[in-house]
Amino acid sequence: MSASPTDSSCDGGKPMIKERVAILVGRRGRGSNMVALVEACRRGEVPAEVVLVVAPSPDAPALERARELGLDAKAFECTDELLNLLVNANCEWICLAGYLNLLPSEVLRRYPERVLNIHPALLPEFGGQGMYGSRVHESVLKSARKESGCTVHYVTEEYDEGEVIFQARCEVLPKDTAETLAERILALEHLAYPKALAIAIERNRKSDPN
Ligand code: GRF
Repeated sequence: MSASPTDSSCDGGKPMIKERVAILVGRRGRGSNMVALVEACRRGEVPAEVVLVVAPSPDAPALERARELGLDAKAFECTDELLNLLVNANCEWICLAGYLNLLPSEVLRRYPERVLNIHPALLPEFGGQGMYGSRVHESVLKSARKESGCTVHYVTEEYDEGEVIFQARCEVLPKDTAETLAERILALEHLAYPKALAIAIERNRKSDPN
């Protein structure tokens, strides 16, 4: 798979080759990471363009938000349908943003080292099956850790495993609740995800310059 010259905008006089990204959101996800990725790409901070937003339900609030941003946003019912949507849109990368299920192995095989996820804690701690949303932050508070943050990592067939690409950290304050910690970490996520995608693309281009 190689980057497609989908855009001719310039960066320092050189044409910026933009890679085609799909964002996979959850059934009930707000889509705030999706918006952060789209905006960072549009500002030219990531050599990529979000070309598709997909969700496992037509009622996912993030789909509507994606359409408001002028994006192609579709629901899928099964793995074949998801793969068809991704392949037909010539997607080269997939960013999970609030998608809670394991990704089918067919999709991972089609996109080796090209699927990323964001998790609202410092993996490898506070991850794994069932660790999502406020459960993560409650566990961090219970553990009395002084630090938390978010992790962007490559996706594998296990929950929250796969090589870490980038982490952003913040202090856990004595007065924090799961809500205040979640809010502070979400703001970090919006910076960390575009940065991690840019790192992954750069790394991939260096290892496969063609
Ligand atoms: C984020 O906290 C992310 O870390 C997790 O799911 C949440 C999605 O939030 N994987 P949003 O839908 O992007 O606002």
